Amino acid sequence: MAQVRFHSGEQLPLEMHKVRIVQKLTLLPIEERLRAIAEAGNNTFLLQNADVFLDMLTDSGVNAMSDRMQSAMLQADDAYAGSATFTRLAGKLAELFGTRYFLPAHQGRACENILAETYVKPGDVVPMNYHFTTTKTHITKRGGRVEELIADKGLLPVSEDPFKGDLDTDKLVALVEEVGADRIPFVRMEAGTNLIGGQPISLANMRAVREVCTRYGLKLVLDASLLQDNLHFIRTREEGYADTPIRDITAEIAALYDAIYFSGRKLGFGRGGGIITNDQQMYEAMRGFVPLYEGFLTYGGMSVREMEALVVGLDETMDPDVISQGPMFIDYMARELAAHDVPVILPPGGLGVHVDASRFVDHLPQTEYPSGSLASALYLVSGVRGMERGTLSEEREPDGTERLADMELVRLAMPRRVFTLSQVKYAIDRVCWLYENRELVGGLRFVEEPEILRFFYGRLEPIGDWQDRLVARFREDFGDSL
Ligand code: F0G
Repeated sequence: MAQVRFHSGEQLPLEMHKVRIVQKLTLLPIEERLRAIAEAGNNTFLLQNADVFLDMLTDSGVNAMSDRMQSAMLQADDAYAGSATFTRLAGKLAELFGTRYFLPAHQGRACENILAETYVKPGDVVPMNYHFTTTKTHITKRGGRVEELIADKGLLPVSEDPFKGDLDTDKLVALVEEVGADRIPFVRMEAGTNLIGGQPISLANMRAVREVCTRYGLKLVLDASLLQDNLHFIRTREEGYADTPIRDITAEIAALYDAIYFSGRKLGFGRGGGIITNDQQMYEAMRGFVPLYEGFLTYGGMSVREMEALVVGLDETMDPDVISQGPMFIDYMARELAAHDVPVILPPGGLGVHVDASRFVDHLPQTEYPSGSLASALYLVSGVRGMERGTLSEEREPDGTERLADMELVRLAMPRRVFTLSQVKYAIDRVCWLYENRELVGGLRFVEEPEILRFFYGRLEPIGDWQDRLVARFREDFGDSL
């Protein structure tokens, strides 16, 4: 990791790579952005990328590839069965995680589908540090229930705690005693806990959870989609790991789990996914669903070119210079925003900067989707596309009432090695301007509300004319500038 001190005293994240391929961006005038966000039903998922200046929606499948990853794609071995590319990927996973079996899948949620299909029955309970949207839906669709056992510190928006993704093992013991181990098909830990601000889990906590699982005979599964950030944080925040090679930390983590699954769109900076395990019974129980849902066992719905890129991307994940880039940029942006009093989740985690909408637009009730409103307003004033991570991302209760999210966040993801520091500074500038004019931001209401995963494609409209007033204020302050 680049520990470079600037003579000026400034603390800047320094890129340990150079740019060799670029993509042209456009920044539309605010009036055109108003048209674009209206056409998108105020849902940033429905914006056309051509209308977006900085795409901070997600880091999924949009990280910059290295030259080594791209060149590896040229040696892909196209074969329905027995491809040499599969052998290389399986070999790399075995090398890094010490696992014997690999079930390939086209992306992370496909792994969740296979796990839920194999193990979750009606009435089951799946304890986890915190849910992820697709994970939870796969479990609830099978009649199971998710129990979030995040340690209380995890839901504090601002704290000094380095590991807010930790699971509370006392809560886990109490739950197992209450529902019984036979109702718990597995316990799930999510590295770099997504929905609470990309917060990591400590290795100490992973060990403690393993201990409880072993005591009660429970399977322990890791969602390693955001493991690369978590590895960085264990090395930089957990006592005793500063000099431990990332490979050793990875092996130590892997040994604690019965199965690990990942989205290769995040882990490995490519696309694809898979489930790895040393447990032959688990492997055999899940195996049949790969050819059924994904593709034959030696590609699982992935393109062989992407698989070759993953082999190299996973290897590069073991390089502290590579995995520190995201967290360092996120840290810079979050701390700059906090210095301007903008409420953000602290300490900064991985994945992106998480703006705390419940404090940013504290005049909006959760039923008017403050995070969705803020994401829409931010696009309008900047062309920056963030993602709502609040009540809109929840699903209604069976009786139709809103399930209010624990946290109302707008996530400004930091795809790895994609944005320059001046682009990040532009985003900071516009978020700060919006914060100064936050009283203008109003709420949203649904005009089309899908039942399943509504945040992906639901459409909303502003309540009142707040967007027109925001455009007018922007023009007053910025003149005819973009
Ligand atoms: N688990 C976690 C922790 C994730 O963050 C994601 C995806 C998945 C599973 C599903 O993986 O997209 O490959 O099917 N997160 C993306 C995001 C969508 O934007 O945070 P997938």
